[in-house]
Amino acid sequence: MENGKVESKGELEDILESFSRLANGLIPAFHAIQNRYGYIPKERLPEIARAFNLSQADVYGVLTFYHDFRLEPVGRHVVSVCRAEACQANGSAAVIDHLRRKLGVDFGETTADEEVTLLPTYCFGNCACGPSVAVDGKLYGRMSAERVERILRGMGASA
Ligand code: FES
Repeated sequence: MENGKVESKGELEDILESFSRLANGLIPAFHAIQNRYGYIPKERLPEIARAFNLSQADVYGVLTFYHDFRLEPVGRHVVSVCRAEACQANGSAAVIDHLRRKLGVDFGETTADEEVTLLPTYCFGNCACGPSVAVDGKLYGRMSAERVERILRGMGASA
């Protein structure tokens, strides 16, 4: 994933052209766009709607129904923390507190240096091994404040 602003118009058009040929290609197109840019650019929704012959309201509705799609640019690294019940019962609050304090951001925010975005997730399907955290798409189970601190240090994101 190359996070950042969508610069190349042709590249997005290529993604839309290939996925709009598929039956039910809208969600795979969202995944492809987000994998490429780190988010789905809101300003490109009219173009996406046209490619799939849908209204902008329909496209926006699908996009916002799924929690995994992002409408804002993210930092170079994305840390997603499960906030669902099983992970809460296994102590995710301590992991979340540590991340908020160390990064100086809340959920949905990116650090001032644009290095790390902290996002909530509602179950990775890794409930038996919670608390669960994903860093740049790699899933970690049995997370603790100490383990997440080591991960942050490895990313150069902790003092
Ligand atoms: S509740 Fe956290 S992974 Fe399922």
